[in-house]
Amino acid sequence: MGFLADLKILYYLACKRTRGDSHAERLESFYGGQASGYDEFRKRLLTGRKELMEAMEPRAGEVWVDMGGGTGANLEFLGDNLAKLEKLYLVDLTESMLKIADKRIERNGWTNVETRQADATTWRPECGSVDAICFSYSLTMIPDWFAAVDRAYEALKPGGTIGVVDFYIARKYPSEGRAKQSFSTRSFWPVWFSCDNLFLSSDHLPYLSQKFEEVRLIERADRMPYCPVFWKKMPRYIFIGRKPLDAK
Ligand SMILES: C[S@@+](CC[C@H](N)C(=O)[O-])C[C@H]1O[C@@H](n2cnc3c(N)ncnc32)[C@H](O)[C@@H]1O
Repeated sequence: MGFLADLKILYYLACKRTRGDSHAERLESFYGGQASGYDEFRKRLLTGRKELMEAMEPRAGEVWVDMGGGTGANLEFLGDNLAKLEKLYLVDLTESMLKIADKRIERNGWTNVETRQADATTWRPECGSVDAICFSYSLTMIPDWFAAVDRAYEALKPGGTIGVVDFYIARKYPSEGRAKQSFSTRSFWPVWFSCDNLFLSSDHLPYLSQKFEEVRLIERADRMPYCPVFWKKMPRYIFIGRKPLDAK
């Protein structure tokens, strides 16, 4: 059963053409048929999400946003800390993903979690400002990712936390202390992922570091699941940053 479900997802990733005139329509066409099997398949692919949620250090009474939160799988990683938050908004543009998230919220009885179908580049929290915002594997899917980061910056309170985990490529000449990647890594993965409308960028990290005070950065590369003999490792990062206390 699990194998057949994985095959279906692989078909969507490798063969199914994404259609639609808008970003929202293209997302729905991509996720519509695979949302129900999404969690199981992505468990092995989207690593670092638990680490991200823990590193963001949730505190009682905070308001959080999971931006591009999809099916809400990340919320499970918060464990008992989730109930201590005052509110968590799960924002996503794709209806089929949010339906799974809504079922998960109901099943777990999470009364402090609400979903919003909205675009990360324009959404503003009803409550004004929030304590923490995370993007897990969503920034690479947002064409105007810089607008999404700008919106997150505006929505965060001074001292608020941003957490991002995603695939990426390094710049050819990264700044001091940053990971270097080979020409083949920097060339191969953007082409590979662009087939599924994921756009790896060498600018995500520098932009995040410029806007936020860096608290923690992990850069690493892991083997591709489902294909252990494939020699190229997938480069990803975890960035934890803070909006400066003296920011407006
Ligand atoms: C790879 S999934 C990651 C989902 C989830 N964060 C996780 O870690 O499992 C990317 C998500 O970003 C959402 N997304 C893409 N562009 C978006 C946008 N402009 N605004 C809000 N959500 C967006 C997609 O609908 C999708 O659910």
